[in-house]
Amino acid sequence: MSIIAGKKLLLIVSGGIAAYKCLETIRRLNECGLRTRTILTRAGGRFITPLSLAAISGERVFEDLFSLTDESEIGHIRLSREADLLVVAPASADIIARMAHGLADDLATTALLATDKPILIAPAMNPRMWEHPATQANMATLTARGVLSVGPNSGEMAERGERGPGRMAEPAEIVAAIEAFFRRSNRLAGRRALVTSGPTVEAIDPVRFLANRSSGRQGHAIAAALSALGMETVLVSGPTNLPDPRGVTTVRVESAVDMLAACQAALPADVAVCAAAVADWRIARVAGNKLKKDGKAAPPSLELTENPDILATLAAVGPVRPRLVVGFAAETEAVVDNAIAKRRRKGCDWMLANDVSTGTTTFGGEDNTVHLVTADGVEPWARMSKAALAERLAERIADVLEKAP
Ligand SMILES: Cc1cc2nc3c(=O)[nH]c(=O)nc-3n(C[C@H](O)[C@H](O)[C@H](O)COP(=O)(O)O)c2cc1C
Repeated sequence: MSIIAGKKLLLIVSGGIAAYKCLETIRRLNECGLRTRTILTRAGGRFITPLSLAAISGERVFEDLFSLTDESEIGHIRLSREADLLVVAPASADIIARMAHGLADDLATTALLATDKPILIAPAMNPRMWEHPATQANMATLTARGVLSVGPNSGEMAERGERGPGRMAEPAEIVAAIEAFFRRSNRLAGRRALVTSGPTVEAIDPVRFLANRSSGRQGHAIAAALSALGMETVLVSGPTNLPDPRGVTTVRVESAVDMLAACQAALPADVAVCAAAVADWRIARVAGNKLKKDGKAAPPSLELTENPDILATLAAVGPVRPRLVVGFAAETEAVVDNAIAKRRRKGCDWMLANDVSTGTTTFGGEDNTVHLVTADGVEPWARMSKAALAERLAERIADVLEKAP
């Protein structure tokens, strides 16, 4: 029996030559026991008829946002949330652009904006449209938001004489991507993850604070990647400009003391990944009122006191110690040696060492270069995007947890 049997899919067919391939895709999905409802865009309806979609899917086809009948029967919000996965195939350059910009000017884009479910798109367009910086920027935006994609492939286009990237993935590839999604999303079902992210900010007085340059991108990506494997994930984050990852319970905190309390409240967990850049020190006595500049007096001196060590606390042996505790070592010199020593000192299982010295763009940038330090040795990982690193780490975590009782 297929892993996707019984799952519900909302397939959005937008306006492109490849729309005809969605009939074959639906037929294959039927064979896997999956229920497919369809939304056809106005342009999609110029390439394929609602009648053939309804006949193949065995379900009615939705086309109009302002249809009184449809709205009273199911409602566009429910339609977008009753599915386990939304698939846009073919995804035209136009619908990709509208998704990236959060437009909701028809039933398809309204459903895509209103859903709380994962989205997979299969882009299909002329190579020039695909390679256009606007399309590439829109794809990057969607990928950063966690939208999954399959294809496009390279090859002969429907237009005579045109070759290049832009051919929609074949129906078998789209079905395989859907199967892979459901397999992944079930892999660590029933397990719990705790992830910390972002900086901590330590108050000096009611208006000033000490902080650091952490953007939270790596920690947020890890929370999203663990959640994508089916883990119930709590993200404890210091202040960042990032949106809360979909499907993750995000707890916002400011100081290291608050972060530790939120982490302890989130236990038990099977894995804890401490990616937050926690301040080592806080101000010993936070001023109750704003410190004033007084022309005559010397500037105030700030006395610091040590913050709790969140990683070491979570890694300490005890009844609620997660099966796997992973830390990050942000270093500016002797990166690997310091990470090896830090792993032992903190008592954690794995340490990801990264170089945050001046000139690297690790803090705030898109990419990261790490060494994975474990009890078995040091593994250099090639430079990759923070999202790719998060997925690789999540896979490694899954390998361990799957073997654990
Ligand atoms: C014959 C023809 C073929 C088209 N093929 C594509 C295509 O493969 N990919 C694409 O992005 N747009 C294609 N377009 C343009 C889209 O149909 C157009 O941008 C439309 O507004 C898309 O609307 P939608 O995204 O709401 O479905 C084609 C247009 C025509 C007339």
